[in-house]
Amino acid sequence: MPKPSLLEQLNYIAKEADSQLESAASEADIESWRVAYLGRQGRLTMLLRNLSSLPIDDRRVVGLEANRVKKLLEEKLNGRQQALKEAGYSRSLLEGGIDITLPGRPMAIGRLHPTTRILREILEAFTSMGFSVLEGPEVEWEHYNFDALNIPSEHPARDMWDTLWVDWADPSSQERNMLMRTHTSPMQARVMENNEPPIRVVVPGKCYRYEASDATHEWHFYQVEGLAVDTGITFADLKGTLYQFAKRIFGQDRQIRFRCDYFPFVEPGVDMSIDCFSCNGKGCRICKESGWIEILGAGMVHPNVLQGVGYDPKKYTGFAFGMGPERIAMLKYGIDDIRHFYTNDLRFLNQV
Ligand code: PHE
Repeated sequence: MPKPSLLEQLNYIAKEADSQLESAASEADIESWRVAYLGRQGRLTMLLRNLSSLPIDDRRVVGLEANRVKKLLEEKLNGRQQALKEAGYSRSLLEGGIDITLPGRPMAIGRLHPTTRILREILEAFTSMGFSVLEGPEVEWEHYNFDALNIPSEHPARDMWDTLWVDWADPSSQERNMLMRTHTSPMQARVMENNEPPIRVVVPGKCYRYEASDATHEWHFYQVEGLAVDTGITFADLKGTLYQFAKRIFGQDRQIRFRCDYFPFVEPGVDMSIDCFSCNGKGCRICKESGWIEILGAGMVHPNVLQGVGYDPKKYTGFAFGMGPERIAMLKYGIDDIRHFYTNDLRFLNQV
């Protein structure tokens, strides 16, 4: 039998390589296939080495054909590698139990804390009436928290504020007593000390009291203080300002009511109630059947306080008020326990 021509050998190798590649089942199989046919010592490469022994015309024909086969095999190799990769990918998806048709996880979107929201609402109500917003220290001197507010030591009114003392100085020393402020009212004195009238400020901030917490009491909570001092400020100004505030937070139909109350730093002192937004004053569970809900304390700045910061009480008058934003939020949003504001339970926080 005559030796098969190079062309025939080429054809034969191409067919054989083709069928072998079909049955290559792994990346390793494919690699040994590549070495066997296309590698340096591979069958196709070896065959091409014999080209030089051919007459020049045959050389061109066989050369062309050999290159065509080589290119074809390389393309098939690529295709096979790709197919194997994809098969492996979908297999690992299945085996890994990943269901790519499931909807994606929802994105966690942050939101404002209920306290932040109500604080912003309250502050906006006052800034729209020309008040500025100011903040002060949570750790405070006894002087500003009490004495400057017409509450000298030994005054029984100090019992109204159960105090967390930070530092209790030796009475014989010059040092001062330090505490966690029990209300934002110390800022009244600080603002007046550092400014000349006219003054119109609201002061949001954290306060602390030494007491057990329950559904309506926390040992730390927010307050918003308000202060307006100028010539000719009267109780009517206090009334008008707080009336606008109440309507803005609780609705245009709200009525307000003032009753006498006692705070050493105001005279007269009052507490302000709104008519119950739930029953419109008829009496229900929320207003404890009274038709009214108390929302803040207020009054005309006491002459002693004005004098203490160097203002002439004959020239200047002013009003002040203080409220608990958590209490406002509880009323407005129907929240039944003040402790929710501080337990960081997402089920509560997500409702806002
Ligand atoms: N600081 C008072 C309190 O904590 C509230 C208040 C502020 C009352 C201003 C009158 C005027 O109870």
